[in-house]
Amino acid sequence: MADYQVAVIGAGPAGYVAAIRCAQLGMQVVCIDKHVDDKGKSALGGTCLNVGCIPSKALLDSSHHYAFLRQHAKEHGIQAENVRIDISTMQARKTKIVQMLTRGIASLFKKNNITHITGQALLRSDKQIDITQNDGHLQTLTAETIIIATGSSPTELPFAKFHSDKVVDSSGGLAFENVPERIGILGAGAIGLELGSIWSRLGSKVDILELSSEFLPTADRKIADLALKTLKKQGINIGLNRKVTSVLLQGEEITVAFESQENGGRIEFYQPDKLIVAVGRRPNTRNLGLEALGIQLDTHGFIQVGEDKQTQIAGIYAIGDVIGGPMLAHKGSEEGIMVAERLVGQHTTVNYATVPWVIYTTPEIAWVGSTEAQLQTRGINYKIGEFPLIASGRARALGETTGLIRMLADAQTDRILGVHIFAPQASELISEAVLAMTFEASSEDLACTIHAHPTLSESLHEAAFAIDNRGIHI
Ligand code: FAD
Ligand code: NAI
Repeated sequence: MADYQVAVIGAGPAGYVAAIRCAQLGMQVVCIDKHVDDKGKSALGGTCLNVGCIPSKALLDSSHHYAFLRQHAKEHGIQAENVRIDISTMQARKTKIVQMLTRGIASLFKKNNITHITGQALLRSDKQIDITQNDGHLQTLTAETIIIATGSSPTELPFAKFHSDKVVDSSGGLAFENVPERIGILGAGAIGLELGSIWSRLGSKVDILELSSEFLPTADRKIADLALKTLKKQGINIGLNRKVTSVLLQGEEITVAFESQENGGRIEFYQPDKLIVAVGRRPNTRNLGLEALGIQLDTHGFIQVGEDKQTQIAGIYAIGDVIGGPMLAHKGSEEGIMVAERLVGQHTTVNYATVPWVIYTTPEIAWVGSTEAQLQTRGINYKIGEFPLIASGRARALGETTGLIRMLADAQTDRILGVHIFAPQASELISEAVLAMTFEASSEDLACTIHAHPTLSESLHEAAFAIDNRGIHI
């Protein structure tokens, strides 16, 4: 008989949620994770809690308050002179939030009788895992089912290797101890835009060099164009079509050489004080023993799984960033719940068509479902309803009127096919659209739904009205 019914490797939002759900369903569970904090203490929660979603949002909120006091308080009649930021206090607050949440996961493990082992796991067979603990001690255990949830790590570019605190990944970019004068960021994706927003609000001159000619290619075009214009206006310099060819570090000096298509491919040089490389993440599949077991990876290195998240080896599952798809915490958690529930014979599925995306800029960018471009490619006839935030009473009261909501619905059935938001609190507003799409609602259903006044959510209501050309406030 195996030591455990389920062994989960990785305690990020995919792994820890799978472990808790398995335990709730009566299984005996062990979760192995190698992550330790800078004091050497085990810290559950994976990338998301330790160096991702949570610390980035803590700094986004701190920097938002600072920017408000400096730039907008006056409009409210608030006299806030000599506003200064103490970065060490801001960082200590971030660390405390992370610690509280990671300890919260440890308490949940305890409550659910989940065994937690800190160490590096290696698959020895379909039922056996070797664990090298951080003190070098080796432990072996067996489990009837194994769930791999080892997540992902920042991609390193061959010509821009991470180096001390000068050329850094996202974790380094969340840990600066003072406000660098000039920050260069490679990549205008979610990380580039969020870290760029934080440090720009705190006073850094931020330049983002993006390889692609298109800004946020997976977002709605009109929303992406408006977001680009707005972020540039905030002082974040975003350059598209910038192909970095070398990054030279000499003493304290960083020199970035890049080709700019705007200048006919001419090489230009740029010298930031810090360079953050945010060009995507790669799956953590090395040193896991996958090859020896015959577990296959796809061409991008993600673990290949079936619809049930099972690998080629019966009883070994994989979930979260390590299997690809949207590299988002909530997507991994849903997969964790699905695998746990299917292990006891339930028929849970993950509806990938309704996974929401959010980028926490000011205003926030959020979307769910298809873009216009995707509908056009698929030959689907659609209707559009738009509502600009400038017409919202609540947005006016907030003093945040930049933004737009776009709703796309099937021209024949009126079913909502996509919702794209650039607005304050878009991260919260998008949930209504996700719920509507999960219930396969029509734009008429949303138009018939009473929204409290004055709220930002009324803008979604108005976008639904606008689909039938009956917007009240536009
Ligand atoms: P991870 O969270 O990466 O966890 C994997 C765990 O496995 C890690 O703790 C790792 O140490 C452990 N591990 C790996 N190999 C082994 C091994 N061999 N043995 C033992 N343990 C191992 N997503 C959002 O949805 N919203 C956001 O706002 C957001 N913000 C982000 C901001 C930043 C700066 C970053 C970097 C990411 C952000 N993400 C966000 C993405 C999100 O963090 C990931 O999608 C999510 O953490 C993936 O969860 P996971 O459980 O698959 O893997
Ligand atoms: P990303 O895939 O979002 O963006 C990377 C960007 O870098 C792309 O625009 C790409 O064109 C560009 N790029 C690639 N190579 C380049 C090069 N050599 N030079 C310049 N630009 C280059 O990846 P990112 O921002 O690193 O984030 C990784 C993952 O983390 C994302 O997939 C996202 O899902 C997740 N994340 C989610 C957040 C959220 O949900 N709010 C926040 C932060 C990260």
